[in-house]
Amino acid sequence: MTQTQIPNQMTAVVLDSFTGPETLHVEQRPVPKPGKDEVLVKVAASPINPSDLAFLGGNYGFDNPPPVVPGGEGSGTVVAVGPGPMGRYFLGKRVACLSNGERDGIWAEYVVASTKGGVFPLDKSVSLEQGAMSVINPLTAVAFLEITKGGGHKAIVLTAAASALGQMVNRLGRSEGIQVINVVRRDAQVELLKAQGATAVLNSSDVDFDRQLHEVCHQYDARLAFDAVAGPMTGQLLKAMPKNSTVTVYSCLSHKSPQTNVDQIVFEGKTVTGFWLGPWLYSTKNLLQILMLWRRSQKLISTDLKSEIRVRYPFQEARKAVQEYTDHMTGGKILLTPII
Ligand SMILES: NC(=O)c1ccc[n+]([C@@H]2O[C@H](COP(=O)([O-])OP(=O)(O)OC[C@H]3O[C@@H](n4cnc5c(N)ncnc54)[C@H](OP(=O)(O)O)[C@@H]3O)[C@@H](O)[C@H]2O)c1
Repeated sequence: MTQTQIPNQMTAVVLDSFTGPETLHVEQRPVPKPGKDEVLVKVAASPINPSDLAFLGGNYGFDNPPPVVPGGEGSGTVVAVGPGPMGRYFLGKRVACLSNGERDGIWAEYVVASTKGGVFPLDKSVSLEQGAMSVINPLTAVAFLEITKGGGHKAIVLTAAASALGQMVNRLGRSEGIQVINVVRRDAQVELLKAQGATAVLNSSDVDFDRQLHEVCHQYDARLAFDAVAGPMTGQLLKAMPKNSTVTVYSCLSHKSPQTNVDQIVFEGKTVTGFWLGPWLYSTKNLLQILMLWRRSQKLISTDLKSEIRVRYPFQEARKAVQEYTDHMTGGKILLTPII
């Protein structure tokens, strides 16, 4: 293992149990050592994402047991590498890193990441802060457009559309001639998206939302929806869309399972599917294609795939930061950093 000025101990945010953010605290832990095909990243920044909130409550697709360091994605510099052919390539590089749910996450001064899908080189045009948010949402936005175009769709419905991801999908959609029908839950979010150039934005809190949704889905012949809300919303989407439509559920912000009725599935030929970035990426692309996708998305990080940053907090204030994010998610990412 190659090493340069790495301390023995580090500051890490630790979750004691899957009961939400209450047990989050900061402690001193040994700096982990990279094994075969792994690198050690000195962390620069890591956002709080909805998937992190789900993880804190034990509701995510990862099952690394507490006490555990949370944090799904981030950025930093590779300061040490374990044995394996790729490690030396990454040494000294600025990277984005991704947790694979098998070990500690990224809310710590140092994290070990796998050279096989857990670490991506940052383009020189991408800052460490933007780089910290350059995997999960940007690649998902690109995936949504690829699925849309691959299915021959000219229009899609998108829920929780004022999210960072939603804004990316809207910008990409405009660039690529795809009509996005946005569903949000507050008037301020309608204004936000319209100010950015969105033409179809519905508020699910409106009393005649179902009628509006039905009308606009048929107007644009929208047969594909990406649904982050689930619960009753999945059924509302299915009901509003033309026959043989598909709702792809990609999150569960309502904390409820997708609900629908048998008429939609059996007699109208509609389907509900799921999307999770990692499995989609590795089941549809080989390594070279993933690298090409990564390079292409890096070039768009300061434009179509940009994330706004609302505020930065040091790891010591992680619990406060998570609370602030939970109370108000729209309006930019909250970044956790080793130091401010
Ligand atoms: N499956 C995958 O691979 C994958 C990949 C990337 C992202 N995602 C998902 O994509 C979604 C957006 O992520 P992001 O990082 O872009 O989020 P974000 O910027 O933090 O924004 C979250 C948005 O969701 C809205 N929201 C929260 N709870 C809601 C509810 N019950 N009903 C309707 N809207 C609700 C928030 O509105 P308020 O301000 O009103 O709370 C906010 O606009 C998340 O659900 C995330 O898990 C999934």
